[in-house]
Amino acid sequence: MADYDVIIIGAGPGGYVCAIRCAQLGLKTACVEGRETLGGTCLNVGCIPSKAMLHASELFHQAGDEFEKMGIVGGKPKVDLPKMVAYKQSTVDSNTKGIEFLFKKNKVTWLKGWGKIEGPGKVSVNGETHSAGKAVVIATGSEASSLPGLEIDEKTVVTSTGALELQSVPKRLVVIGAGVIGLEMGSVYNRLGSEVTVIEYLDHITPGLDSEVQKTFQKILQKQGIKFVMNSAVQSATKKGKALSVAYKSRKDDSDHTIDADVVLVATGRRPYTAGLGIEEVGVATERGMIVTDDQWRTNVEGIYALGDTIKGPMLAHKAEDEGMAVAETIAGQHGHVNYGTIPGVIYTAPEVSFVGETEESLKKSGRAYKVGKFPFMGNARAKSHFMGDGFVKILADKDTDRILGAHIIGPYAGDLIHEVCVAMEFGAAAEDLARTCHAHPTFSEAVREAALACGDGAIHA
Ligand code: NAI
Repeated sequence: MADYDVIIIGAGPGGYVCAIRCAQLGLKTACVEGRETLGGTCLNVGCIPSKAMLHASELFHQAGDEFEKMGIVGGKPKVDLPKMVAYKQSTVDSNTKGIEFLFKKNKVTWLKGWGKIEGPGKVSVNGETHSAGKAVVIATGSEASSLPGLEIDEKTVVTSTGALELQSVPKRLVVIGAGVIGLEMGSVYNRLGSEVTVIEYLDHITPGLDSEVQKTFQKILQKQGIKFVMNSAVQSATKKGKALSVAYKSRKDDSDHTIDADVVLVATGRRPYTAGLGIEEVGVATERGMIVTDDQWRTNVEGIYALGDTIKGPMLAHKAEDEGMAVAETIAGQHGHVNYGTIPGVIYTAPEVSFVGETEESLKKSGRAYKVGKFPFMGNARAKSHFMGDGFVKILADKDTDRILGAHIIGPYAGDLIHEVCVAMEFGAAAEDLARTCHAHPTFSEAVREAALACGDGAIHA
């Protein structure tokens, strides 16, 4: 008899969710994790710690810039970065311990160590081989992909991991890549007092986002003090005394430039992390580093599944979580399903940015006739009173049927507001359905309703 029904390798949001759901569905489950704590990149060095730093630095910014306007006086507070980093670590610790508790509660066995697939249904951990009667699930996540010419030491040339551990605020921070990580961590240090310059290869920030959001977002970040060097490819970062010299080439005219920095953050994307997992030996097919699966997350090798950042699709914790649940259901003989058309994306800057579904660009490309309902947060009483009037809600709906096709929000609590649109889309709602749903006043979510109204006879407060 096999030791377990299912062995999951990796305890990030994809792996631990899959493990818990497998156990809940009556499968004897083990989860292999080599880190000292559960939760993977997300809980340990990604989503959770970065949100702690974003929260703390945003409050610092508000205390310095907005409190006085609201009659709260008493001088600008100072930053104690080691203490802020300790606060961040305490939130990480409580969350990772929470997963350990959930494993115990659901009777998931944590196999501590790095797992290697020895063959279908066989995983070795620390030299001991464990067997899985039904499935092995690869949920090993991703790692930062660097650039040639850059040596990451996580002290002065850092990925997001090192950026979350700095013990002093760098005077000059150069960020390579205007994607999600670059802009979130760039925002943290900009608020804490660094001079932040973001160098981006493309002529726009946040590739893939609605272009109107991209432009508004960049303008807002510039107003906050972040500098952008666009259309430029970073080539190297070399030590120059205690500082660093970052060399980049302009893509417009091939001219060479340098900029000095105290810390360089490399945020040029991530790639699947499958080194040492034994997938080549057992013949699991990959394409450009990603594990190839069918639409039920099965690899080409019988009994081996893969999910999350190791396979195609956005590298998002919640996408991995959804796949984790669906894989568990599939292994248990149910019909696991993920609706990839309604997975939201969020950038946790201030203001936040969120999106779901189609963009105007993707609709134009597919030739689908659509209409746009847009509403500015300046027309939202609550947002204005909180000094949060920057940004807008934009809903895209089918021109003929009014069915909601996508939504793009830049503004306060955008990361939470997007979910009513996600639910509406799951139910195949029309913009009119949102528009006719009563929204409490005064709330930020009224802006979503107003954008839905703007898809019809018009918004009221615009
Ligand atoms: P990204 O793919 O979002 O952005 C990378 C940027 O670097 C791109 O704009 C690219 O054009 C630029 N770039 C690449 N090479 C360059 C060069 N040589 N010089 C200048 N610019 C260059 O990658 P990022 O920000 O590292 O994030 C990695 C992954 O983590 C993403 O898939 C993201 O979705 C995920 N993530 C999600 C978060 C969230 O949902 N809030 C937070 C953090 C990460």
